Amino acid sequence: MSSQPQAHILFSREEIETMVKRLAAEIKKDYQGKHPLLLGILKGSFMFMADLIRFLDFPLEIEFIRLSSYGRGRSTSGKIKVVQGLRSSIKDRDVLVIEDIVDTGLTISFLLDYLQKKKPASLKLCALTDKHSRRQIPVTIDYLGFTVPNKFIVGYGLDWDEKFRNLPDICVLEGEG
Ligand code: IMP
Repeated sequence: MSSQPQAHILFSREEIETMVKRLAAEIKKDYQGKHPLLLGILKGSFMFMADLIRFLDFPLEIEFIRLSSYGRGRSTSGKIKVVQGLRSSIKDRDVLVIEDIVDTGLTISFLLDYLQKKKPASLKLCALTDKHSRRQIPVTIDYLGFTVPNKFIVGYGLDWDEKFRNLPDICVLEGEG
């Protein structure tokens, strides 16, 4: 008998593609002609961001930022640090942050405050998933892929201990410690 956790499909690759096209259409309507900067949070957003921008057929730029949080186990402690920062100014830019999952909201609230201080022209959030039932801080998600249950989610960029990021579907992990 294997003690490895098992990943069960929650949203299939086909459902993900339909969702990505829906979000891209909304983003296109709001940002066409604005030359936005899409800012992906590493590492979890890389696959989502790569798929999303393929459907955004207008001029834009991409950038990545990496955060670290000192959490115990699966939860965020709220002590968040920028470990790989912005390489260019976002002052007066239309910035759209791309996140993999909003859980307690501590990480994204920290980042949005950090970015707002740099005086962008606008700052919005696009999240692949929302684990709404765990929220500790209110967060406005301007473009949302899926609401997910209070379970551990992996795949399509999301990891458990750096594993499962390569799964093409969004899955629930069952049986992890
Ligand atoms: P928050 O600060 O509690 O909102 O946590 C956000 C971060 O925790 C995400 O960017 C993920 O890196 C991680 N995280 C939270 N829930 C999950 C999950 O179910 N699967 C994978 N990572 C998660």
